[in-house]
Amino acid sequence: MPDRNDLSAFWMPYTDNRGYKAHPRQMVAAEGMHYTAADGHRVLDATGGLWCVNAGHAREPIIAAIRETAGTLDFAPTFQLAHPLAFEAAARLGAIMPEGLDRIFFANSGSEAVDSALKIALAYQRARGQGSRTRLIGRERGYHGVGFGGISVGGILNNRRQFGTLLTGVDHLRHTHDPASNAFSRGQPAHGAELADDLERLVALHGADTIAAVIVEPVAGSTGVLIPPRGYLERLRAICDAHDILLIFDEVITAFGRIGKATGAERFGVVPDLITMAKGLTNAAVPMGAVAVRREIHDTVVNNSPAGIELFHGYTYSGHPLASAAAIATLDLYRAEGLFERALDLEEYWADAVHSLRGEPHVIDCRNIGLIGGIELEPRPGQPTKRAMELFHRAFDEGLLIRVTGDIIALSPPLILERRHIDEIFERLRGLLRAVA
Ligand SMILES: Cc1ncc(COP(=O)(O)O)c(C=O)c1O
Repeated sequence: MPDRNDLSAFWMPYTDNRGYKAHPRQMVAAEGMHYTAADGHRVLDATGGLWCVNAGHAREPIIAAIRETAGTLDFAPTFQLAHPLAFEAAARLGAIMPEGLDRIFFANSGSEAVDSALKIALAYQRARGQGSRTRLIGRERGYHGVGFGGISVGGILNNRRQFGTLLTGVDHLRHTHDPASNAFSRGQPAHGAELADDLERLVALHGADTIAAVIVEPVAGSTGVLIPPRGYLERLRAICDAHDILLIFDEVITAFGRIGKATGAERFGVVPDLITMAKGLTNAAVPMGAVAVRREIHDTVVNNSPAGIELFHGYTYSGHPLASAAAIATLDLYRAEGLFERALDLEEYWADAVHSLRGEPHVIDCRNIGLIGGIELEPRPGQPTKRAMELFHRAFDEGLLIRVTGDIIALSPPLILERRHIDEIFERLRGLLRAVA
């Protein structure tokens, strides 16, 4: 029998494996707003797992749907076959997308959703006779998962530099982080709409007729909570329209109520051509990703192809029965409990709490939108990320799960949280900030 205490076999993702295995911290159970750690202590979840458990942990209707489906239809291929739950999940998801984005391609993760969206964009350009449009534009500091497509359009150095030349024909917009003008903004920062004009620079450099699509996160999460300046997304949309370039919103974290609406597109009133999603789609109970596609894009690819398969792309588990069942149950739960509205209702209280950390030791910026909070810390001289990592470890040991990226604390609690949880999260954080050097 393998020894459960032997941690050597599991090569952990995005982890300091040597540090972790010297001081492991494991979760053994979860319910509602809390995890239970291996030593039995309860941990308040201020990160929704990893930006994904929007309805709180271990929700019975989702568990029941998974259990029932596992006993009825464990698997059915969706290549040339399929099953009713996949169609129902697609229709249900399409119904809460911005108008017109109701054709759904399923994947199993955010990374796969991103790569699917990039491929769909390229296939569309070809299908409509614009095959010279092969260039993909991302943004500095963007995170679009870990597929080769995603890291190529992504803009985080550490995610790229170990992996060779990446996709060719990719360029990047400037990022929108401008603490000199926007530090301590509540909601959308006032300055920086003109940064969208960077797309005009790339059009002038490469020619619009070489550009297939632009991909951005409406709110950049993994890079440390960068909220779009007022007017920025609108301007990006207008420039894409002017040059007939597709706009993709990567909403892997912003969809499903995280910023108070079904999508960031709805929240910001800017409709892209494709939306990538994952995480909250199934409340993280079963892996699933999806791309919502504007109907005309779908129709162009499907109707302009020779008879037979139209898009040579898909995954064994696209629209898996358990994931489809979990997605339907999750969307039902969001609606039944009004969780998107709840996030919006709590936004002001949350914002007050986030900004109450202004003036605490090490804090150089606080930012918020929906139920997202970003608290940027001054790095320790010569030791970037160390202070934040120490906070993460101490918080866990004291019963609070936060996420840190670089020297930024990123918070994204389940949308079921109550005001008392908000109070607890920020009182604990305040204490920790005062305690660490
Ligand atoms: C915006 C965005 N895109 C893509 C991904 C990748 O998702 P996954 O880890 O499910 O592949 C993430 C994950 O955090 C994300 O935040």
